[in-house]
Parts: sequence; C-alpha cells; structure tokens
Amino acid sequence: MSPNGQLTTLIKSSYKSIGFIMTGDTDNKLLNVGLLIIATLLVAKLISALLTPRSQKRLPPVIKGWPLIGGLIRFLKGPIVMLREEYPKLGSVFTVNLVNRKITFLIGPEVSAHFFKAPEVDLSQQEVYQFNVPTFGPGVVFDVDYSIRQEQFRFFTEALRVNKLKGYVDQMVVEAEDYFSKWGDSGVVDIKYELEHVIILTASRCLLGREVRDKLFDDVSALFHDLDNGMLPISVLFPYLPIPAHRRRDRARKKLAEIFASIINSRKCASKSENDMLQCFIDSKYKDGRPTTESEVTGLLIAALFAGQHTSSITSTWTGAYLLQHNEYLSAVLEEQKNLMKKHGNKVDHDILSEMDVLYRCIKEALRLHPPLIMLLRSSHSDFSVTTRDGKEYDIPKGHIVATSPAFANRLPHVFKDPDSYDPERFAFGREEDKAAGAFSYISFGGGRHGCLGEPFAYLQIKAIWSHLLRNFELELISPFPEIDWNAMVVGVKDKVMVRYKRRELSVN
Ligand code: HEM
Repeated sequence: MSPNGQLTTLIKSSYKSIGFIMTGDTDNKLLNVGLLIIATLLVAKLISALLTPRSQKRLPPVIKGWPLIGGLIRFLKGPIVMLREEYPKLGSVFTVNLVNRKITFLIGPEVSAHFFKAPEVDLSQQEVYQFNVPTFGPGVVFDVDYSIRQEQFRFFTEALRVNKLKGYVDQMVVEAEDYFSKWGDSGVVDIKYELEHVIILTASRCLLGREVRDKLFDDVSALFHDLDNGMLPISVLFPYLPIPAHRRRDRARKKLAEIFASIINSRKCASKSENDMLQCFIDSKYKDGRPTTESEVTGLLIAALFAGQHTSSITSTWTGAYLLQHNEYLSAVLEEQKNLMKKHGNKVDHDILSEMDVLYRCIKEALRLHPPLIMLLRSSHSDFSVTTRDGKEYDIPKGHIVATSPAFANRLPHVFKDPDSYDPERFAFGREEDKAAGAFSYISFGGGRHGCLGEPFAYLQIKAIWSHLLRNFELELISPFPEIDWNAMVVGVKDKVMVRYKRRELSVN
C-alpha cells in the first residue's frame, strides 16, 4: 500500500472508533467536534512521524539568513567569522544553506570522528576536491576512482617512508646551508620571502629531483607559479571557466608534462636511479603489475608540491614569528640546539632532527594556531548521526556537504587551555592537550582515513631550516607581529615579516 493509502485508512479507522465511542451521547455535538479535532491532530502527528524519513527527525539547526542567498553571503564573508558567530548560538553541529547545497559543520572531537573515519562510500572527497583536477592533470588523485586513488596514495606512503626521509634530510640540510650562506654577516630580510624560497628549493631537490633543481629550477618554478595562480576562489566553483589565469594554468600543466616526460625518459635510458620522490613514482606499480605512466608521475609530483609547498612555508614563517616574539621559547629552542651540538657536534641528520622535541612543539603550536588548510570537506552519501558533548543527537542526511574546520576546532577552549595563547608546552608529557579530549582534537594535518601523508616530511623540512637559522644567526623581529591573510586559498601570513639578523661568531655555544 502507498503511504497515502495507509494515511487514508488510518484516518478512516480512527474516525470510526470515535463514532463508536459517541453512539450513546449523540446530543453533545460540541464534545463530538472537539474530540474529532483532537483525534485528527493526533492521527496527523502519528502519520507524519511514520512518513518522515528517520534522517529528517533530528536535523541540525540551520543558520538564519535571507532566503536563498543569506547563507551564501554569510559564508562568503568568511567561514571562520561565520563559525565564530554561530558556534556559541547553535553548538557544534549546524547547517548553512548555500543556494542549492547544504553544508553541515561538525566542530570538535566529540562530533567529528565520523568525518575522519568514514569509508569513501559514505563520505567522499572526490566531488568536493574536483576543482584540483585541471591543476594535477588527468589520471591522478581526484580524477580517478577511489580504488586507483588508494593505490596512488600508497605510492606517496612508500615515497615518504623513514628510509627515504633519511636521504631527503641530507639534501634539506645542504639546501639550507647553501641558501643561508648567501646572507651577509648582518642585515634585514623579509623572513617570509626567504622561507618560501628555501622551502621550494628543498622541495624541488627532494621531490622533483636533481635535474629540475640543478638545471631547470627557474623554468619549472615559473610554471608552478602559473599553476598556482590558476587556482582562484572562483576555480573552486568553475574550474574550467575560460579566463586568462586558467589558460595560463593549462599551458603550464602541458609544459610541465613535457619537461617531466623528458627527464623520466633520460633516467630510464641511462638506467639511473636517484633518491627522490620522482624516482619512487617512476618505480611504483599498481596491484595488477602496471607501471605508472609519465603523465601520472607528473600529476602525482604536482599534487605533492601543492600539498606541501605553501603549507610548509607558511608554518615555517609562523614558527619564526612566534619564536622571535616569545623570548622564553626562543631560549628553550636555543638551549636544545646547544645540547644537541654538545652531543653530536655540528652535524644534522634525520635522527638528530628527531631529537629536537622542543622545536617540534614550537612548530606544532604555531600550526595549531594557524593551520593553512582552514576547512576540510566531504560529500555525504548516506545518512549518519552524531551526538554532541551535551548529549544532543542529530541526523545528517545524505546529500549534505560535511565540513570541519582546523582553524576553529584547534582553538576550542574545552580542548585547549587559553586557546589563543602560544604555549608549546601544552603538548609536553603530562599535559598533552592534543590527546586529552580524544582523537581528532588537533587537526592541522587532518586525521583518520585521509590524514596527511607528508606530516613527517613537513616537520623534518621545517626543523632542518630552523635549526640551521638558530645555530647560525641572532634574529630579531622588527616588523609588527604578522596578521593572517584570510583571502588566500591556503591561508597564510599577510604582508612582509621583517627580521634583523647577525651571523653568530661561533655558532650557538
Ligand atoms: C605543514 C605542512 C602540511 C599541512 C598543514 C598539511 C595538511 C594536510 C591536511 C589537513 C590534510 C587532510 C585533508 C583532508 O582531510 O581533506 C592533508 C592531506 C594530505 N597531505 Fe598534507 N599537509 C602538509 C604537508 C604535506 C606534505 C609536505 C606532503 C607531501 C610531500 C603532503 C601530502 C599530503 C597528501 C598526499 C594528503 C592526502 C592524504 C589522503 O587523502 O589520504 N602534505 N594534508
């Protein structure tokens, strides 16, 4: 029977029962009508409960705004501003209507476990990160089915294993020494600019390979610049819009494919093998034995550079700004460097970097306050429920976009004490605020099923650069403490960050 048929039968039978009760008191028409109304209301409620799908029973609260475009205007004014205003009113789970899409936010460790752990069939990345396809190119990451993507992420995992990282660190150290040897004995620099450059040089060496770093660096950097400038906020909605920035992006992607095809061929012809990510991708094989194509190798390298370039250079800049603003932490990292130099001399390698716990916590805290990826998204394909900290249950229907925000969740006061203050010791043994409230409390690197595969690489790279700077230079921040550039796709540091430096006479000791 159809739901409508069920509904009619239910109404008829209820009216019949009322009629049966009434037979002995036919004069009391008012009572009759009154009871009829109550019964109608009761039946209507019962039916609506029966007919309403489970997922619509406990929908999250919705952000109020003008019809149709209200939510969009609030969102475009800045998602973090919106979260700051709505979280205190609506709590940790709420929905914003963006014209024809609904985005449901899950904020905080209590409600975000499903976001991070759900299998791809339930919560997927492909639709929401589709705008990357023209940049990364065909046949890789968000242009392929999940089964192939998983295999390609396996190639990433293998290229970033500890035995590989050890070799990359040696190259990072050489790059840092080389880059900063060009500084004079004293002077003033924009540390943001300097760190961007040293990071792109180390990333080129470790990821793209010796050929690019030694011979083609300027050409390849210019092409990456065009790719980068071709990823605008408008590209998220219309990645193929025929605008000059997208045309330059497409030309650059084609040219990069040619450059890498030629490098790959010459490595294969000379039977040469190098210790870099390029070599790992060339040697990677799918489960069925198929080797990667030149186009796939190029696409995966572009994806790696996009994932790691801005994120790491922004984090290096925030780390420096905080250290130079907080004398107590600057002294603590210098003390750590002194102790390590007493133990190992001036040598720096993978294992020595791994001993730099104080510096690690200082980087991690800068990244807690300023995660460059401020919002993570998924597309939901099945209904699911969440329970908030205060016991409210919500059902999130399939079809919603589901979002969480590292920039907001990393500063929740019930998870992190004095959340806006820079306090690297919150991660030290005994406090461990990133774990105390459960998994997914600290989400600068995401977590769970799609947690960042480059996290160890990023820490090693930032530590290698900052340990070199700390050991060799006295530094002083001479511009005001930097502000956040909320307009960038990867949220970073606004304006220049001017630093006065003086080369140390006898390194740190
Ligand atoms: C400070 C530096 C970095 C930050 C803050 C960062 C942050 C993140 C975040 C938040 C995600 C999760 C995205 C999501 O859940 O939607 C992610 C994923 C990823 N990151 Fe990073 N990342 C950094 C550096 C790197 C580097 C250096 C690489 C590679 C060399 C890298 C490779 C990846 C890859 C391959 C994924 C996708 C993992 C998956 O979907 O299974 N990242 N990163």
